[in-house]
Amino acid sequence: CGIVGYIGQQQTVPILMEGLQKLEYRGYDSAGVAIYSGNDILVKKFKGRLSVLADHLAENPLPGKVGIGHTRWATHGEPNDINAHPHTSHHGKIAVVHNGIVENYLKLKDWLTTKGTVFHTETDTEIIAHLIEYYYEGDLVKAVQKAILRMEGAYAIGVICKDQPDTLIGYRKDNPLVVGIGQGENFIASDIPALLKYTRDVYFLEDGEMAVLTEGNIQILNELGETMIREPFHVTWDIEAAEKGGYQHFMLKEMHEQPKAVKDTLSPRIDDENRILLDELRLTGEELNHFNKITIVACGTAMHAGLVGKHAIETFARIPVEVEIASEFRYRDPFVDERTLLIAVSQSGETADTLAALREAKARGAHVLTITNVVGSRISREAHDVFYTWAGPEIAVASTKAYITQVVALYLIGLYLAELKGTMTRQQVGEKVAELKTLPDKIQQILDQQETIQELANKQFNQQSVFFIGRGIDDYTAKEGSLKLKEISYIHSEAIAAGELKHGTIALLEEGTLVVALATQEQLYDKMLSNMKEVKARGAYVVAVTEEPRAAEVALSADVVLTIPDTHNEFTPALAVVPLQLFAYYTAVARGADVDKPKNLAKSVTVE
Ligand code: G6P
Repeated sequence: CGIVGYIGQQQTVPILMEGLQKLEYRGYDSAGVAIYSGNDILVKKFKGRLSVLADHLAENPLPGKVGIGHTRWATHGEPNDINAHPHTSHHGKIAVVHNGIVENYLKLKDWLTTKGTVFHTETDTEIIAHLIEYYYEGDLVKAVQKAILRMEGAYAIGVICKDQPDTLIGYRKDNPLVVGIGQGENFIASDIPALLKYTRDVYFLEDGEMAVLTEGNIQILNELGETMIREPFHVTWDIEAAEKGGYQHFMLKEMHEQPKAVKDTLSPRIDDENRILLDELRLTGEELNHFNKITIVACGTAMHAGLVGKHAIETFARIPVEVEIASEFRYRDPFVDERTLLIAVSQSGETADTLAALREAKARGAHVLTITNVVGSRISREAHDVFYTWAGPEIAVASTKAYITQVVALYLIGLYLAELKGTMTRQQVGEKVAELKTLPDKIQQILDQQETIQELANKQFNQQSVFFIGRGIDDYTAKEGSLKLKEISYIHSEAIAAGELKHGTIALLEEGTLVVALATQEQLYDKMLSNMKEVKARGAYVVAVTEEPRAAEVALSADVVLTIPDTHNEFTPALAVVPLQLFAYYTAVARGADVDKPKNLAKSVTVE
């Protein structure tokens, strides 16, 4: 979910709406604002996209100079008008916006019910408003302090009070919240882009800290209520970076930014002699040698990058690597101890499942390295070491450029460990690095073929069900290609190891069913061609992805061949994923889907 809040001399609604628009990637199944207007707090909130709220507010203006706004990704209670935020207590005295989950909300609800509170929604947020009102005795800060003492879970909130319209409160506990510093006005928001139009100076709140904002002042209080002195952080990056720049969708723009993203991630870490410098790994060689295993935890696309990384690290450095879905990791009593290097991969650095896994591993003594794209994110702050992917802000829900940079990050880590452990010589590592440097150009060559892929998508977009097959690392790329397709085009799709297909899934093939076959692995090439023939013999329409030198031969077993430039075996995932991203994109466009904001999904999922 996304939160914004404003206090100052300007009209609040346009500022909140502008901010919410920049936060829409955090969820968008309902949106609302609460404004102190006249002598009351007035709330407007609607199910659906932000535009529903915007249209309503355009026709029914809500004047006022303090307010809070919210864009929601539902957890407790279905997305509808009533469950949308903000929520208020009786008579609209307290209004609250909230991101995260209050885990003990049922207990608190029972308790408040015995005190006579009547509830109107199914949400955990409504409890917060009632709880603050219950403790309110003329001092909003004290009331919020008492309420949060009783609220378990991970959350960030924004609060206003009818009886104290000169105050806006923000509080964070394991969920992002920044404070924007204005002149004669101040702001809170879940993320910086919401503030950039108004200010570039922000305070980051730490967990357990509360910001008390008035028009002219910002006070940060710690858990004990002591005032904290904080240096403002000046944001230097540009809002343009977060806008579409002429492309039809953020996703298309971000796919085209992949060559640059890879270059930006690689170049600060390699020197002219193709040596790898990983200053971010602040471990000595001895400490690194001490690890007997690596565990990678992540969700979604980041988990697929982890699978590719597993292959690369095992091949290069000969260290066993496990990849775990973060949401499963801590519930299975994992084998993790002080000899484990845990790598948490997360574009946003805020994914609650990944954060929980990281904490579990830390508690068991593991050394934690994170690969993330967001500076200052929660996960970056809790990890021992951070490897930043320099992909730039990724707005489209379906991750593309962040994925590629995660893969590249894991290549670098694998090669770095290999040299350290002596499984590869300096020269062998140098050869790999030289090849890595060619990837940006090779990605560009694939992007240049986008029209061919668009034509293919325009013919195939009516498929009911699509299968992606591959062997070895191609199976991992297949998984990512399949996820891309289903998340934005809503076509059912599955990735299956090509050799496993015949043990069940092949029963689903019909005349014309689309099978996307990845054939980039030299040693598995002949086996893969047989698998393609198997599906073709059962009526499938086969689209193959292979390296240029093999195109002619592969064409004998496929209906269409998409090529990628030749590269080392381990590096093909960074190229082979690109035609699959483009295919998913153009299929979604052909189906008229909302590419950047697919239904039911959110860019950053801050609940477990
Ligand atoms: C969400 C997004 C996915 C993403 C996953 C992990 O579910 O919709 O696209 O892969 O979170 O996100 P992270 O920010 O941790 O990489």
